[in-house]
Amino acid sequence: HVVHAAGQDLAGRHVVISAGGTREALDPVRFLGNASSGRMGIALARAARVRGAEVTLVAANVTEPMPWGCRIIPVTSTADLDDAMRGAVVDADVVVMAAAVADYRPAEVEATKQKKTGDKGVTLDLEQTQDVLAGLVAQRAESADPARRAQTIVGFAAETASGEALDQLARAKLQRKGCDLLVANDVTSGAVFGAADTTVHVYTQGSSGPSAGGSTWRGSKGVVAHQILDSILKYKMESQ
Ligand code: CTP
Ligand code: CA
Repeated sequence: HVVHAAGQDLAGRHVVISAGGTREALDPVRFLGNASSGRMGIALARAARVRGAEVTLVAANVTEPMPWGCRIIPVTSTADLDDAMRGAVVDADVVVMAAAVADYRPAEVEATKQKKTGDKGVTLDLEQTQDVLAGLVAQRAESADPARRAQTIVGFAAETASGEALDQLARAKLQRKGCDLLVANDVTSGAVFGAADTTVHVYTQGSSGPSAGGSTWRGSKGVVAHQILDSILKYKMESQ
């Protein structure tokens, strides 16, 4: 049912995608991380490349095979991801933050491997990481370059909610982040991380009423990736 393969509707466009999950070091051998496989971001990169885009994939700790024909920038921590994204998005038409970003990092990173001391357990001191997506939205707003201001920025959200509760969380997040589209999925079942199939809901800035629930796409991550790109292009056409 995929009819996009021959379409080059992203030719001449630069698409920047983050994928995977960031890791925050505790000491030289330990980190705080998450279970993101990077598969959705990779599927998006592959789909955008097939449709003619120049694709930059900022890959945080991804173990899946990398897509063909994309520029790959490997990163580890949220700070690395922030640097790489800020650099890569300067001439981007579309920016997709599919990476699962750590919300907190150890306030201090130990220089040596920590020893187990006593049997009491330990309490970690954590500080908040920078919000990469919100930073990219702010940078765009401050830019004097018309091409940059026309950039479309897409966020992702994994929520343990469904139906109207998911709609509400997603709409609130879309407003808070200030991005143009938000792709949300319900991870209550726990089946999304690393799974081949997925269901996503796409919310866009400014839509309310009957479309407030967002459009729902279901299928393999490869097929859903094309549908997400369709939603992004539709938004771009309608807003410019
Ligand atoms: N994100 C980011 N930088 C962070 C945290 C999140 O760029 N420090 C991005 C993610 O890549 C995603 C979007 O913001 O595209 C939403 O991430 P999410 O974790 O759902 O949002 P948070 O603002 O962290 O809210 P919470 O985790 O409390 O739901
Ligand atoms: Ca978060």
